Amino acid sequence: MVSRLTCLTLAGLLAVSAWPPAAAQTGARLAADKGCYNCHGDPPKKKTPSFATLAKDYAQYQGQPDKEAALAEQLRTGSFFGHVDAHERLSAEDARALVRWIVSGSPPP
Ligand code: HEC
Repeated sequence: MVSRLTCLTLAGLLAVSAWPPAAAQTGARLAADKGCYNCHGDPPKKKTPSFATLAKDYAQYQGQPDKEAALAEQLRTGSFFGHVDAHERLSAEDARALVRWIVSGSPPP
């Protein structure tokens, strides 16, 4: 029981240290690169949430790399809602980096 808990704690620490808060600027640049601002820009397109709005929603996931990974996969596999090509074209790494950027407040470049 105790050792199992210790293992989980260690795994959590490892997961966190494997994902240091990457350079925020990279996130914004990646988002621009992938055309995310076409819809999530300011003003955003129709009902699309702006990155600032998303960042507010996602702030609750700070320090939760598992949740971050799950959100990235959901985005990439289109399981949130209907199809958005730009979401589904993302590589696992890019989706992860972009979600991490949003969780960290989606700071501009
Ligand atoms: C063609 C327009 C369009 C483009 C381009 C686009 N998105 Fe989206 N995105 C949307 C819409 C519309 C929603 C909200 C759909 C809803 O909530 O029903 C959304 C939702 C999201 C969400 C919120 C998912 C949730 O509900 O938690 C994230 C995160 C996101 N987009 C990230 C991105 C990223 C990163 C890019 C660039 C790779 C991108 N989007 C490009 C239209 C777009």
